Amino acid sequence: MKILVTGGTGYIGSHTTVELQQQGHEVIIVDNLSNSYQEVVDHIATISGIKPEFENFDLADAHKTSDFFQRNQNIDAIIHFAAYKAVGESVNKPLQYYRNNLVSLMNVLDGMKQHAIPNLVFSSSCTVYGEPDSLPVSESAPIKTATSPYGNTKQISEDIIRDTAKAYGIHATLLRYFNPVGAHESALIGELPIGVPNNLIPYITQTACGIRKQLNVFGNDYNTPDGTAIRDYLHVTDLAKAHIAAVERMTNNKQHQNVEAFNVGTGKGYSVLEVIKAFEESTGQKLNYRITPRRSGDIEKVWSDTTLANNELGWKAEKSINEMMLSAWKWQLALNSKN
Ligand code: NAD
Ligand code: WQD
Repeated sequence: MKILVTGGTGYIGSHTTVELQQQGHEVIIVDNLSNSYQEVVDHIATISGIKPEFENFDLADAHKTSDFFQRNQNIDAIIHFAAYKAVGESVNKPLQYYRNNLVSLMNVLDGMKQHAIPNLVFSSSCTVYGEPDSLPVSESAPIKTATSPYGNTKQISEDIIRDTAKAYGIHATLLRYFNPVGAHESALIGELPIGVPNNLIPYITQTACGIRKQLNVFGNDYNTPDGTAIRDYLHVTDLAKAHIAAVERMTNNKQHQNVEAFNVGTGKGYSVLEVIKAFEESTGQKLNYRITPRRSGDIEKVWSDTTLANNELGWKAEKSINEMMLSAWKWQLALNSKN
């Protein structure tokens, strides 16, 4: 199949492109490089042996997006990763987030309608569940009021996709990712945090190699066994594989509804202190950390019910927390050796 991967030079998009190519699919990437680099295309080619087609333009530009679809008539499915994703930044720049994330999605959907492209996979997030009422959280849990413009773009995007799919007969899969971490085993692609990382794993790896002095553990007074907050971390290559399963489910007409949502996590939660322990054990590095007050807006605990993804999508996360930590560390060392 020929698959358009928007945001394909980004963190999750690059790993998904590799997996798609390794399954024999042809990939065309569109990315405006607002949060990634063109060299990623070469790194993908080094891993897979195939250079994906690449176009650099802004999907929020309706004319350029329409022109792209005019020139590329034979696309079987679209995996739409392109979006801004920094939660804190979205609070200060809401219009940038709404404009970029929603307009680019609508332009892509317009192209699907115009050119009868049947299948869409959308990057949603566990953030749509907020602080869940019960755990593990399943897809039928209520969607909670978003606490950031970023989170709201995911909720609104899900609604836009449902309405559009219904009106035009498009098939869509909403993948609600939990916390993707780690990097490809080659250490050729991974996450590129710009500036001071907000996320736990890049902060850990930057602290371990001396870029940051100390990791702040945000709060040890949560209602959890060790008092620190719990998340469902999953390896990015496991996550990448869920996209192939989603595309294949749609193209093999296995969907029960035009639009389906799946949790993509491991089903197991780890506290911040457990993550630190796994990092230290798997890498042999000692981490300098201290307990600080809670980070505002953080939820206490969340992990996924993966029953639906396991049974319907036929997908299951395979990599352990230690493999996640080790691959993140190898990626950090590879980044350091370039600078
Ligand atoms: P990323 O920033 O690494 O990748 C996104 C890519 O999209 C970047 O390469 C960026 O340059 C590109 N892009 C952004 N706006 C664009 C536009 N208007 N036109 C063309 N390209 C554009 O992010 P990621 O971590 O790979 O996330 C991919 C998707 O998954 C995003 O939609 C994100 O919201 C979602 N998601 C990420 C996480 C996470 O923790 N990383 C969790 C849940 C959901
Ligand atoms: C994980 C845990 C922190 C940094 C964010 C987005 C969410 C989703 C994934 C896209 C928390 C703690 C962190 C640090 C710490 N993205 N922590 N010290 O908050 O679960 O989710 O990324 O959709 O929408 O909000 O991920 O990696 O920031 O934090 O103690 O320096 O680590 O408090 O408990 P989070 P995270």
